[in-house]
Amino acid sequence: MSMERDGKYLKYHGLLCPKETHSEDSLKYFENFNTRDDDVIAITYPKSGTIWMQEILPLILSGGNLTAVHTVPNWDRVPWMEETRAPLVLDSKPSPRAMVSHMPYHLMPASFFSSQAKVIYVARNPKDVLVSSFYFHQMASFLDDPGTFEQFLDKFLAGEVLFGKWTDHVKSWRQNNLGDRILFVTYEEMVKDLRGALKRLLCFLGREMSEESLEQVVSHCTFNQMKTNTMSNFSLIPRNIMDHQRSPFLRKGVTGDWKNHLSPDQEEKFNDVIKEEMAGVDTQFPWDEE
Ligand code: A3P
Repeated sequence: MSMERDGKYLKYHGLLCPKETHSEDSLKYFENFNTRDDDVIAITYPKSGTIWMQEILPLILSGGNLTAVHTVPNWDRVPWMEETRAPLVLDSKPSPRAMVSHMPYHLMPASFFSSQAKVIYVARNPKDVLVSSFYFHQMASFLDDPGTFEQFLDKFLAGEVLFGKWTDHVKSWRQNNLGDRILFVTYEEMVKDLRGALKRLLCFLGREMSEESLEQVVSHCTFNQMKTNTMSNFSLIPRNIMDHQRSPFLRKGVTGDWKNHLSPDQEEKFNDVIKEEMAGVDTQFPWDEE
């Protein structure tokens, strides 16, 4: 395992992971992870909709049963495969398990590649990811202070942030050998039409749900509803670790907030880097036309 320690972070194969939530043991557990064929894994670059998937997946896999989302905190309900809770809760979880991970494709454990586990890759406009992450770094004491927005933007573009460059993450998962084991969704399509996105997920996972249950799931998974769910809004975490008065974890839940944060010069700089790094990737994102 390639790992270094650096202030608040561990460096795992060059990727920054917060020590508050990752340990050498948890990363070793991840490397040796025992994937089951019916596992469902939502993959995200941080701030792209991870906790949203932690709400959605158990509902889809249970036909809309709200018990888990009302009684189990998100980090144990749909654990991060690489984080410290994983070894404590994942082995004893009954199948089908739902999990999340921020890892790039090539770092997934060997058992994942030989399994039939399914993946839902959630991508979000990197400019909104940047803004969301900037506020997250202000409220989470286990992350470095982001500095000014301009400084944080430069770090983001250089990949000196959690889990490295956004472009590397997205590209790694686009260039996969998973065939019909992977579904791509975007944060933007979920904001625009959550019901439609849930139907795509149901179809991909081979599940069904009555219209009535689907309506209930849609209304449970809205931003405002999740904000009030203590099992999902991180209000159980002590304030010295996450300070929601500085910025709530469920902050705005909208698309295009970057327009309130990036100057024209910053936008140009951002566009130039992303465009160059995404050159040759045959993917159309909803935000490409903006
Ligand atoms: P904002 O900071 O832009 O509000 P992650 O879970 O990957 O860390 O991503 C967090 C982002 O997803 C935050 O974005 C958060 O508000 C948003 N989010 C979480 N649940 C959501 C929901 N139900 N609807 C819309 N956005 C949601």
